[in-house]
Amino acid sequence: MVDQVDLRVSLGDIKLKNPVMSASGTFGYGQEYENFVDPAALGAVVTKGVSLNPRPGNPPPRIVETPAGMINAIGLENVGVESFIRDKLPWLAERGALVVANILGESVEEYEALARRLDQAPGLAMIEVNVSCPNVAAGGLAFGADPATAARVTSAVVRATRLPVMVKLPPLVSDVTAVARAAVDAGARAISLINTIPAMALDIETRRPRLANTIGGLSGPAIKPVALRLVWQTARAVSVPVIGIGGIMNAVDALEFMLAGASAVQVGTASFVNPRAVLDIIAGIETFLRRQGLADLKSWIGRLETL
Ligand SMILES: Cc1cc2nc3c(=O)[nH]c(=O)nc-3n(C[C@H](O)[C@H](O)[C@H](O)COP(=O)(O)O)c2cc1C
Repeated sequence: MVDQVDLRVSLGDIKLKNPVMSASGTFGYGQEYENFVDPAALGAVVTKGVSLNPRPGNPPPRIVETPAGMINAIGLENVGVESFIRDKLPWLAERGALVVANILGESVEEYEALARRLDQAPGLAMIEVNVSCPNVAAGGLAFGADPATAARVTSAVVRATRLPVMVKLPPLVSDVTAVARAAVDAGARAISLINTIPAMALDIETRRPRLANTIGGLSGPAIKPVALRLVWQTARAVSVPVIGIGGIMNAVDALEFMLAGASAVQVGTASFVNPRAVLDIIAGIETFLRRQGLADLKSWIGRLETL
């Protein structure tokens, strides 16, 4: 047993007090969880994806439960970047939270404009670029689906801001390592993955889709094994920190991702089941490392043994 466990991790120049962040779109802008979680207790708060202009999102129903997961088709509803900076960021900054702003766009120019606007926003530590959005100019294919487009978005964002940039990858790519390397070569200081997996659910009584948008994104425990494989491959392929996301419901899940090479994790769907999940996961990681006699998280990250 050790007395003190050092949970700090570095993402480039950014120092996190622990490796647990909220996942974008599942923790609002932090204030929604005010009665449950002090945002400063997290490694970082990743805010809901923000676009240049406000977006109303899709009509309801927008969420459906599935075995071991949920499918959402929120449609990237958000308040837009001006309201984000004016009405949302200050609350988090006043509480001392380390804030990562997740951005989304329909064109490379929109991503670039968002990064330029956020560059001057007080209280922001990092930008996370969601490249799972459909690229309208390319017929709706996700920006992150191929290395060249991922690189173009990344370098446009990197050039537009002094803030460190993390690129968040979609799961449906033919070679995740090629996309991750392209993003890193274009200036990404960290890679996070995975976003949700495109999915659908039907009702045979009504013969209708369960989501108004028909298709949504699957998240939760159902996607964890897929995410773990992609994170493991990516962590071996790039030299920057990798952040594991996908079905992390408890400390054991988080520890698996870090054993596979993730420097930190993001927790999404779990917060809908238990609004204090992020705090339970931080405490669980600490307890486990102490029991293992490990004084710090560095002694755990990427220490996967072969069979
Ligand atoms: C309701 C909901 C909204 C989401 N909104 C966003 C978003 O705005 N931007 C983004 O990059 N990811 C978004 N995501 C994806 C999550 O951040 C995360 O990548 C995914 O849910 C997998 O993690 P989980 O299984 O822990 O939920 C959303 C997920 C859910 C469930």
